[in-house]
Order: sequence, then C-alpha cells, then structure tokens
Amino acid sequence: MRARRALLYVPGSDLHKIEKAAGIDVDGIILDLEDGVAESRKDEARGIIAHALATLDFGRAERLVRINPFYSGRAEADLAAVLPSRPDAVVVPKVDSPSLLQKAAQILDNAEQTAGMPRSSIEIIALIESAKAFVNLPAICAATPRLSGLIFGAEDFCADAGMTRTSGGSELLYARSMLALHAAAFELQAIDMVQTNFTDVERLAAEARQGAELGFAGKQVIHPAQVVVVQQVFTPDAAAIAHAERVLSGAAEAAESGRGAFSLDGEMVDLPVIKRAQAILVRARAAGLVP
Ligand code: COA
Ligand code: MG
Repeated sequence: MRARRALLYVPGSDLHKIEKAAGIDVDGIILDLEDGVAESRKDEARGIIAHALATLDFGRAERLVRINPFYSGRAEADLAAVLPSRPDAVVVPKVDSPSLLQKAAQILDNAEQTAGMPRSSIEIIALIESAKAFVNLPAICAATPRLSGLIFGAEDFCADAGMTRTSGGSELLYARSMLALHAAAFELQAIDMVQTNFTDVERLAAEARQGAELGFAGKQVIHPAQVVVVQQVFTPDAAAIAHAERVLSGAAEAAESGRGAFSLDGEMVDLPVIKRAQAILVRARAAGLVP
C-alpha cells in the first residue's frame, strides 16, 4: 500500500502550477480536468496533462488524473488523451453506481492492452459526492479490483443531499464515518474532504486530525501550504511507532509461550491492540519511516 496522506489538486490547464507541484514533496498529485478547469480550457488541459505526465519528473509523488464525469460526455476523450502517458491512477468523479467504475475499468483494460502494459497497473479512485453514492456504497466498493481508494467530495455532497454547510461541519460527520467504514471493510484507502481555506493552518490541522481519528488515510489539499501540515497529521509519530514495535515483539513472545492476552506498561494487550499496532507500522512504512 502506498502512502496517500496528502493528494494535491492542480488545475490541468495551468502548466506553471503543475511544474511547481512536481517539485513538492507530496504523496500524490491530482492533475485535474474537472471542476478546477474552466469550460473553455477543457480540451487544452488534456494536452497539457498528457505532455506533463510524459515529460516532467514528479519525484516520489503518485501521478493521478481526475477526469470529467461520464455524464458530461467528456470522460472517454479525457481517458483517451491521458492514458498513453501512463498515470498511476485515475480519479473518477460523481460515482454514484458501480456501473460507472466498471465502464472506466473496461477502458483501462483496453488502454493497457494496447500499450502492452501489465494488466490492472493503473488504479482507480472513486469520488463519493452524492446521496445516491452513499446508498450504493457497498456495490461501488466491490465494483472492480482496480479500485484502491474512496475520496469524499464534501461540497458536492452537501449540495446534492440538501444539507446546510456549516463551519463546524457536524452535518458531514455521518457521511465521513460511513465512507471511512466502507473503505476499511473493503480494504480501500479513504481520503478526506478539502479545506478550502488555505491560510488557516490550525483549522486545517484540526480537521485533518479529526479525519485521521475517523479512519481516513489522508486528505485532499488544494494549495502547497497545506501539504506539510496534512502529511504530518497522517504520519505516526516516533512514540507511536516505538510503542507499536514493542506491542508486536511482546505479541510474538506471548504467542511463542502460548499466551493470548499479555500486559505491557500496566495495560492489557490483546488482538485488537495488536492489529492497531500493525496498522501504525503499515502507515510508518508507507511514509518511509521504518524499513
Ligand atoms: N499546485 C501547485 N502550485 C500551486 C497550487 C497548486 N494547487 N496552488 C498555488 N500554487 C502556487 C502558485 O502558482 C504560486 O506560485 P508562484 O508564486 O510561482 O506563481 C504559489 O503556489 C502561491 O500561490 P498563491 O498565490 O497563494 O495562490 P494562487 O492565488 O496562485 O492560487 C488557488 C490559489 C486556490 C487558485 C490554487 O491554490 C489552486 O489552483 N488550487 C487548486 C484548485 C483545484 O484544482 N480545484 C479543484 C479541486 S477542489
Ligand atoms: Mg467536485
């Protein structure tokens, strides 16, 4: 599993920002063809993204492309333009049923075959941003083995569900929890909502921490200033890593001597605690902190 602590959106029509993003130490960059691009520049953006993917060095960052929704009539041409440049993953917006993901997967099958690439090398991430999507979540999660993550689109969701968007965001808690829970059940990564205010880093950090507590693996960001703050929140700290390592070595000893539960620093350790420790080490490994 690769780290997706922060995924940075960059408008596909803006080569300067794409070049800038390529130089940032970020887990993933989403080259956007959808809402970040003006209607009049959609065609041009396809060419810019294809060129950037083929020529720029994005360092360790995962290279993702967000296409337009299938209902717009643009998705097929978006994919045809960018797939020859081999993005690592495609972000499909406005996914409200499994059939949309199956359609995308079919197009990826064909493109990989044409390019002689190994099958299923390009992953899919689904944007969950409507009431109907939440009702259909289990089927969406099981739609295709290419699916590796779910992203929560808060603003579109609120509008679609007839909710009032508040600054505290309590109206979103149920949906965020539901998304994180389904991601866990289907072994997908859950990516939390955008904080559009890119100057208030404390507010961003608090929102990111809440997402991490709910089970999200990372968060969408829209400005370079948000990257470090968010990646730090989703990285286990040294104390958490050290504790997780002690839990696992204690568990290995306990298993050898035929014990289930054991004690560590005056607290009981049993299977759920061991699983949590394993999850912390998976995150630490993905962030390059432990071998
Ligand atoms: N990726 C890469 N670089 C970015 C960036 C991004 N998402 N956002 C800003 N930058 C760059 C700017 O180009 C600028 O660099 P420069 O001084 O070399 O020109 C620098 O970071 C500082 O930017 P700033 O002046 O603070 O912001 P801005 O007014 O240029 O841009 C936004 C503000 C919101 C328009 C911009 O952050 C953006 O386009 N975000 C992504 C929007 C998007 O894709 N939305 C769809 C998904 S929700
Ligand atoms: Mg949207």
